[in-house]
Amino acid sequence: MKVLVTGAAGFIGSNLAQKLARRGDDVIGLDNFNDYYNPAKKRANEKRLNQFPNFRMIEADIRDRPRMIHIFEEERFDAVAHLAAMAGVRPAVEAPDFYVEVDYIGTQHLMDAARFTEVSNFVFASTSSVYGDTKHIPFVETDPCDRPLQPYAAAKRAAEILGYTYHYLYNLNFTVIRFFTVYGPNGRPDMMAYLVADSITKGKQIPIYNGGEMYRDWTFVEDITNGAMAAIDRPLGYEIINLGRGEPTRLKEFVGLIEDLAGQKANLVDKPKPAADVVSTYADISKAVELLGYAPKVSVSDGVEAFWKWYVENN
Ligand SMILES: NC(=O)c1ccc[n+]([C@@H]2O[C@H](COP(=O)([O-])OP(=O)(O)OC[C@H]3O[C@@H](n4cnc5c(N)ncnc54)[C@H](O)[C@@H]3O)[C@@H](O)[C@H]2O)c1
Repeated sequence: MKVLVTGAAGFIGSNLAQKLARRGDDVIGLDNFNDYYNPAKKRANEKRLNQFPNFRMIEADIRDRPRMIHIFEEERFDAVAHLAAMAGVRPAVEAPDFYVEVDYIGTQHLMDAARFTEVSNFVFASTSSVYGDTKHIPFVETDPCDRPLQPYAAAKRAAEILGYTYHYLYNLNFTVIRFFTVYGPNGRPDMMAYLVADSITKGKQIPIYNGGEMYRDWTFVEDITNGAMAAIDRPLGYEIINLGRGEPTRLKEFVGLIEDLAGQKANLVDKPKPAADVVSTYADISKAVELLGYAPKVSVSDGVEAFWKWYVENN
């Protein structure tokens, strides 16, 4: 199968592209290597992927509509896993136009390119942030999700909805997979696990919100990429599916796990919760279990240990 993975130089995209290449798919990565965080990390991911003869990276921007259509016409993909995005919850508050341009309009370009070239399956990486401050706990896909708290979530939700329209009008198979806070090897330096590790090893001061009384459904990247692979392999018409662990952990405890492994404390400063953040996330994963055979295996303590090992080896 020939699969396009957008955002392949990034955290989750690089893990997914590697898994697809390892099982023998013909994998094309696409990324613009932007400097939202140090692009050297993305180049290192690309270098690892280039070791697979059945992997190739295209450097391009999803906002470039003619280029996207041209690439799809040239390559003729069977499936698309669309992970490229501006993915910062808090930075989106300062740049709503940019987030809409990349996460909504950029996604539309890919949907058009996919329908013009009859791609069999389009898998779209969305986020638990679309649930906003919902009162439906655990978060379930039937929730209307029409009160997102920041432009990132709003743009992702808009793209999910447009996906339905493309399915309805043009018969595009479109599966939305909503990721819940992902961590693990190749992790993003702006996310909590990495920030805590940096704080411990470099003494950097980092904020801890709400006295650490926040809950996240931390999910190890390997479980997420297993779910994404299952979604790529199974065209489902139009579906929205949570991919989380289904077991929230208190922020304070998550930080403590890393501190215990390091044998040292992080340099934390207490801050009030930003308006763009929710107090807790909690995935109902029964739909993923049923439709994708999804079965997250990695406990938070095992996952944090794997992350820490990777961090020590790579920093
Ligand atoms: N990491 C998480 O916890 C999490 C949670 C929910 C959803 N997601 C979603 O998963 C996907 C991957 O996230 P990630 O954590 O790996 O982030 P990431 O920033 O590491 O990866 C995203 C990649 O997309 C690329 N990109 C950004 N704008 C682009 C553009 N205009 N054209 C081409 N490439 C572009 C970036 O260079 C980057 O390599 C995103 O869609 C994100 O919204 C992530």
